[in-house]
Amino acid sequence: MRLKDKVAIITGSANGIGLEAARRFAGEGASVVMADFDKEKGKERERELQKDGYDVIFIQVNVADRSSVDSLMDRVKEEFGRIDILVNNAGITRDAMLSKMTVEQFQQVIDVNLTGVFHCAQAVLPAMKEQAKGKIINTSSVTGTYGNVGQTNYAAAKAGLIGMTKTWAKELGRKGINVNAVAPGFTETGMVAEVPEKVIDQMVGQVPMQRLGRPEDIANAYLYLASDESDYVNGHVLHVDGGIMM
Ligand code: CAA
Ligand code: NAI
Repeated sequence: MRLKDKVAIITGSANGIGLEAARRFAGEGASVVMADFDKEKGKERERELQKDGYDVIFIQVNVADRSSVDSLMDRVKEEFGRIDILVNNAGITRDAMLSKMTVEQFQQVIDVNLTGVFHCAQAVLPAMKEQAKGKIINTSSVTGTYGNVGQTNYAAAKAGLIGMTKTWAKELGRKGINVNAVAPGFTETGMVAEVPEKVIDQMVGQVPMQRLGRPEDIANAYLYLASDESDYVNGHVLHVDGGIMM
């Protein structure tokens, strides 16, 4: 059991990569808080996972809203008394070419994908500092390092996350808190389902492994960075993308 007795909050875990991570973390002995905006899916997944014997609870949160994030953290502290792991996995896309992107599309993505991560990380700090140990994992993207047509907003947020990850690694390392990022390549979830097929084919063609990522590929990377096995890994960006970035 690689996460025995750990309390983990995974944002955006009602679907996709986060859902797989919730299952994986709980399977390794963690108590998992599935924190997501999508209440319907979140409750449904909570029931399914609990039925399978996993220790998970769903709490609705909007990571872009500071008061919603603060109530999430208060509730987790109340229920579990500690917070060991935060996976900042929630994310959205609002793709458009630069010439057509609205200010609202730009801002929505920054609010959720960048400011949301700031809110969640700042809100778990008191608990992690008190414990003198903690793991914060941020979800960047191949788009954050490589750029991608139609993703000005998303690229800005995901590149920004890398800067925040390295800054927090420097600030918090001496407090016993590790901060790292995972940068997935295109991965089979609802998020890529709307991408035109020709863009997917073009992307897969550039991946040395010649396939899309699977949610479990990314969840395994989260698991490593959440476990004690990575205690001396700090400020790292782990590319889980079949080798597209090297
Ligand atoms: N590379 C090069 N050129 C491209 C391109 C690409 N990937 N995609 C589109 N273009 C070109 C088109 O060929 C077209 O060229 P012409 O004007 O010369 O004909 C021009 O750009 C405009 O393209 P569209 O007609 O598609 O423009 P649109 O306004 O209808 O749509 C778009 C634009 C919404 C960005 C659409 O192209 C799209 O959805 N693209 C996919 C964006 C994408 O990859 N999103 C990733 C989502 S998954 C995710 O975000 C996870 C992650 O972390 C990677
Ligand atoms: P997904 O769309 O399947 O899941 C994202 C989850 O985030 C959803 O459950 C959604 O309800 C939740 N969410 C959205 N806004 C929220 C908010 N304001 N507050 C709380 N929860 C919110 O997407 P996927 O693919 O599982 O993405 C997970 C993470 O991985 C995201 O950060 C995404 O940007 C990143 N990523 C995904 C890639 C892919 O190809 N699927 C590639 C690289 C990075």
